[in-house]
Amino acid sequence: MEAASTIAEVRERVGAWRREGKSVGLVPTMGYLHEGHQSLIERAAAECDRVVVSVFVNPTQFGPGEDLESYPRDFERDLAKCEAAGAALVFHPTPEEMYWPDRSTTIHMADISEELCGKSRPVHFDGVCLVVAKLFNIVTPDAAYFGEKDAQQLLVVRRMVRDLNFPLRIVGCPIVREADGLAKSSRNTYLSPDERLAATVLSRAIRAGQALAESGERDASAIRGAVRDVLVQEPLADVEYVEVVSQETVRPVQRIESPVLCAIAVRIGTTRLIDNFFYDPA
Ligand code: PAJ
Repeated sequence: MEAASTIAEVRERVGAWRREGKSVGLVPTMGYLHEGHQSLIERAAAECDRVVVSVFVNPTQFGPGEDLESYPRDFERDLAKCEAAGAALVFHPTPEEMYWPDRSTTIHMADISEELCGKSRPVHFDGVCLVVAKLFNIVTPDAAYFGEKDAQQLLVVRRMVRDLNFPLRIVGCPIVREADGLAKSSRNTYLSPDERLAATVLSRAIRAGQALAESGERDASAIRGAVRDVLVQEPLADVEYVEVVSQETVRPVQRIESPVLCAIAVRIGTTRLIDNFFYDPA
């Protein structure tokens, strides 16, 4: 496995693979890798000849007062995890390598980025789209792998690829969880022992909602109610949203008649955690 910090090195490496007729998969990450990220790299390695993992804490997707500076970083550990999962190249640029100081191009995704997390994080998905579009142009992958953990991000990236005709496949991968159900996340390291215990309420709430949907309940407010009933039992949990939205429009639905996403965002102390399930009534 190799590591590259410049765009020129990545282009050269990928160009050589292309001349050998190899297919290329991309796994974009912000590092501090865990088994969730590794599952994406392993899936990419199973489906593509060569896998590029990007490790870049992208400043444009953090709003003022968010955790850009404190976001956990450990590049040496990340390298070992990438190698173990089957990556061929790790792209680890500086912010200066990725962004011109006088850059003037932005990507704004309307509508679907304004719901759910977009309400409290208004610049977030535009920043995600910008960095992901740049990574697609730098790496030119045949396929890019994203986790369902960040469900709205997955829907936003799919929409951008469709709208802007990026010639690649987006592959969504299932959520990897801790033994007690908590969805793995780099931000889980922010939790104190008490908070870590309290954080299991998210997956319990999601399971309650999912069980109700699978038992045939089609009233979205009943699903939201069942999820909230679990969340309110945890005194350390401060609920930001519980929503059942259309996978197409990301707008709330009243009845579940087409594929939906049930998504929650909850603060445990100062740490904001998300979880979700996808459900197709067909
Ligand atoms: P990051 O939070 O590092 O996540 C990188 C990828 O790993 C995302 O596609 C995310 O959904 C996936 N992932 C994280 N935790 C997961 C879990 N428990 N199970 C399965 N997949 C999981 O998401 C980002 O970085 C950034 O926004 C990025 C797309 C890299 C753009 O900067």
